[in-house]
Amino acid sequence: MLIEFIMNGEMMTYEIAGEETMLDFIRETLMLHGTKRGCENGECGACSVLVDGVPVNSCIYPAARINGKAVITIEGLGTAENLHPLQKAFIREGALQCGFCGSGMLLTAKALLDKNPAPTEDEIKAALSGNLCRCSGYVKIIRAIQAAAQELSGKEAI
Ligand code: FES
Repeated sequence: MLIEFIMNGEMMTYEIAGEETMLDFIRETLMLHGTKRGCENGECGACSVLVDGVPVNSCIYPAARINGKAVITIEGLGTAENLHPLQKAFIREGALQCGFCGSGMLLTAKALLDKNPAPTEDEIKAALSGNLCRCSGYVKIIRAIQAAAQELSGKEAI
């Protein structure tokens, strides 16, 4: 089927197989490898991307469903020269260790801050409940999200 969508701000049209997952489409067709292939079962969140601003597990999301929608992958969050405040905060706080969960964490955090610019710690934990991290213990990730929220709100980062 033919799908039209916006990927990281760019309008695209592709012919896809009906059963293809968005994860396969993003990684194998679009060659955007920042979206990670983890459990492939909707459990770990490593493959999270934003569809119309909402985090979804791309491994279980049919590519056909992005027709008419806007998708953001980690490649669309910031640039090497101009990182998103969340990316800067993750680096500053040491919130990434192996980095495998990072792109999913960052996109889920972006969706949270877009909706709720000043989340409580419990709200951050709830938002991240579908994104698993094997090595950081979450403390630095939560601190980084709080710091980015401060920066985005115009206050000094904590
Ligand atoms: Fe999609 Fe784990 S790879 S949720």
